[in-house]
Amino acid sequence: MCGIVGYVGFRSAREVLIRSLKRLEYRGYDSAGIAIVNGQLNVEKKKGYISNLKVDFDGTIGIGHTRWATHGNPEDRNAHPFVDCRGEIAIVHNGIIENYARLKGELISRGHEFKSDTDSEVIAHLIEEHYKGDFKEAFFKAIKNLEGSFAIAAIHKKERRIMAVKKESPLVVGIGDHENFLASDIPAFLEYTNRVIVLKDGEVCELTDDFARFYTMEGKSIRKRVEYVNWSVEDAEKSGYEHFMLKEIFEQPKALYDTLTSLESRNEWQVDFGRITMVACGTSYHAALVGKYVIEEILQVPVDVYYASEYRHRPEIVEDSMGIFITQSGETADTIAAAKKAKELGYFTLGITNVVGSSITNYVDRVLYTSAGPEIGVAATKTFITQILTLYYFAIKMARIRGRISTRKYHVLRENLRRVPHDVERTLKMNERIMKESEKISRARDVFFIARGVNYPIALEGALKMKEISYIHAEGYPAGELKHGPLALISQGVPVIALVPEDKTYSKMLSNVKEVSARGAYVVGVSPSKDVEKYVDTLLKVPETDPLLSPFVNVVTLQLLAYHTARILGREIDKPRNLAKSVTVE
Ligand code: M6R
Repeated sequence: MCGIVGYVGFRSAREVLIRSLKRLEYRGYDSAGIAIVNGQLNVEKKKGYISNLKVDFDGTIGIGHTRWATHGNPEDRNAHPFVDCRGEIAIVHNGIIENYARLKGELISRGHEFKSDTDSEVIAHLIEEHYKGDFKEAFFKAIKNLEGSFAIAAIHKKERRIMAVKKESPLVVGIGDHENFLASDIPAFLEYTNRVIVLKDGEVCELTDDFARFYTMEGKSIRKRVEYVNWSVEDAEKSGYEHFMLKEIFEQPKALYDTLTSLESRNEWQVDFGRITMVACGTSYHAALVGKYVIEEILQVPVDVYYASEYRHRPEIVEDSMGIFITQSGETADTIAAAKKAKELGYFTLGITNVVGSSITNYVDRVLYTSAGPEIGVAATKTFITQILTLYYFAIKMARIRGRISTRKYHVLRENLRRVPHDVERTLKMNERIMKESEKISRARDVFFIARGVNYPIALEGALKMKEISYIHAEGYPAGELKHGPLALISQGVPVIALVPEDKTYSKMLSNVKEVSARGAYVVGVSPSKDVEKYVDTLLKVPETDPLLSPFVNVVTLQLLAYHTARILGREIDKPRNLAKSVTVE
């Protein structure tokens, strides 16, 4: 899981590549490097952030890489780009070459010398092996030998062209005037062009100053459609916020509004199923759990939810189920593998993703896009909230189609959903109040999040956000489970964040609050009810909403709590240690 970029045109390649790589740093930041051709092939690569690179060469064609280590430790010699033995060819790679060990053995036996422990280096040597004066031909011959997942860009010292290929790792081309761009993700080149071509698996592209040509891996020409992306450069930058995460939290009303507008303009909903299986990872898994509560409540269809990495070990039971695969990036390897498996079992499959043309869209029958815009912070925020909105909308729409709810009820539920962006806007006004509360939380060693019903997944999400960016140990529990074990962890001053909506869980939640209070916990209530103040140490009073919609305001409160706690602790909020934005390894 890495970011790759390429540029050919009239600008300073050094500047374009570095600027583009910085926008991809969320994909990995163990090491970085660039290669530029200017009569000779120049390479600079280093362990650590892109800012560590000292590039004292320039040109107008080059490639670059930011790495999240899989094969080989994060060290200078394992950083990309990799070059062939003669120092004429350079490549960058995102993905895993599964047959690299065999290829490396064969290449070594033919005299090639390797300098890294990576799987990727074989690509440079393979191209060299096939090079007989025609770089393009050598590239096509080399990629035929590769197994696994890859987005690769390659350049040759004597050529003014970039060759690239995509298989199961993302790759997009940006079309300019007398210049062309290549990247793992659109924000990389958005400041230069909004004309985009998304490559599909098995497609190759050839970029020069004046054209972008596309082929199958067998070399047959193909025509591709240019898409116009309406994200602004500001959308992909921080716009004055200290961190992308905070900016993205504050963008949630707009993201919700845009997603709802797009869902409401969609006609294609009809599908038959007896039950639903939802599969996802991390935050998207929590969205699936919220979806379970909402779909079972409104649509009255049973829903099973699986971690994608576990789903694949499940016995192959064929059932009258529809599969929903949720992944904001659309690139998560576990979720894609699960979607493939469900398809083989004959399920009707639906993908929910935020990225147009991402890999998951190739493996599902139908796609629902969230319209959150680019999310750069590793911690998912606006993509989560738009995922849950999409699942609410799905439940309401399907319930109406199946006659599970009256037309009147349908309109009431839709009206309630339309108020959600406004409710979230009001929740964001609590920012300063939450910031103050975070002072106390930042001194804690452990934090517990408790809730019941549809807010239980929000407790899990609050805990995930807290541990992911603040590095404070945090756990989410169904409040009723405390007495079966976790209560033993509650002692004097341990913060417990209790979600207490005014719904059927209200009185039971208050009993659980009393349980932890009696054991000395410092209880932060998150509730629209002023009455809760009597039972907690402090109340974060959230806006009143329809109780079924309380996850929206509650999750925003917990995102801000995690954000400010991490900020007070001086953490690398947008790039937490050991994590990357899209996880393309299983
Ligand atoms: O792109 P995906 O939604 O498939 O990503 C799944 C998880 O890796 C992701 O949700 C992760 O848990 C979040 N970055 C946490 O904030």
